[in-house]
Amino acid sequence: MGSVRLAAAALAATVTGMGYSAQAAESLNLICSADVVICEMMTNRFEKETGIDVNMVRLSSGEAYAKIRAESRNPKTDIWWAGTGDPHLQAASEGLTEAYESPMLPELNDWAVAQAKSADYRTVGVYAGALGWGYNTDIFAKKGLSEPKCWADLTDESYKGEIQIANPNSSGTAYTALATLVQLMGEDEAFAYLANLNKNVSQYTKSGSAPVKSAARGETGLGIVFMHDAVAQTVEGFPVKVVAPCEGTGYEIGSMSIVKGARNMDSAKTWYDWALTADVQSSMKDAKSFQLPSNKNAQVPEEAPKFEDIKLIDYDFVIYGDPEKRKALLERWDKEIGANAN
Ligand code: F6P
Repeated sequence: MGSVRLAAAALAATVTGMGYSAQAAESLNLICSADVVICEMMTNRFEKETGIDVNMVRLSSGEAYAKIRAESRNPKTDIWWAGTGDPHLQAASEGLTEAYESPMLPELNDWAVAQAKSADYRTVGVYAGALGWGYNTDIFAKKGLSEPKCWADLTDESYKGEIQIANPNSSGTAYTALATLVQLMGEDEAFAYLANLNKNVSQYTKSGSAPVKSAARGETGLGIVFMHDAVAQTVEGFPVKVVAPCEGTGYEIGSMSIVKGARNMDSAKTWYDWALTADVQSSMKDAKSFQLPSNKNAQVPEEAPKFEDIKLIDYDFVIYGDPEKRKALLERWDKEIGANAN
């Protein structure tokens, strides 16, 4: 164990350039906002490779942001890995996260570096993925439902009670959907659309991928989710077909941020640099995480929905990651949609 600890300290010293301190490289308090399977895989591998003990908690993106904000005077979290970029950007602009220019930045795709630059290096992109939906082909065939190809199709009354999407307060996926619709249609039209969609929604879940997991298991017909989460269900063998909306769709730049005032700053930087390596990102597919990796040298999973094949909107991360904007949209959603949920 001693030599592993020493190796961990050496790794921290080399990759952060901060030098060894006795307190460094011992433990790490991590919030993980991706699927629990990849959260556990990453945690176990990191512990094995560095000897640093990780206390991991899995929270959806909006919940993670709220926890970091609530703890800002006395931070209990060192690093927040994964989850959609918007709440990471919000945390950055509220000064809740620490600026850090990782030596790994030159290895990253432009979109990941742009995310970092726009937040003065208080966050960075770790993966990307587009929004869409997955539906259960068995249920649709049994009920004689046709494939919804466009956002507009989802409000058809034939889908009443068949749709699930997450609550945008807790879920970054659902906030991405809300911001996408606002960018596609304009704000008032988007809320009118969501009020119509509401008639077909049976449940607003806490986590973003839950709706397609329910669809896979036959508990609902369709889940509005990131396409890679729908693909994961298909790969598991469930009868799930993945759709990219015809009008165009938004996407996430999944991000990572170090908490300001982190007690285990060296360990946090060690995780940060490690999670940006090609090797770690290439292994994400082993946990059926099919996002597009931010490291240019990482292997893009065969199963990952590719941006070239999807009609993407020019999602404005700066505007929709702005604290005022996010707060205003969520308040309006609570009032006009959440309060009238089935
Ligand atoms: O399941 C993985 C994932 O879709 C990530 O790509 C994304 O960043 C995260 O979950 C969002 O989760 P939530 O919507 O629960 O915040």
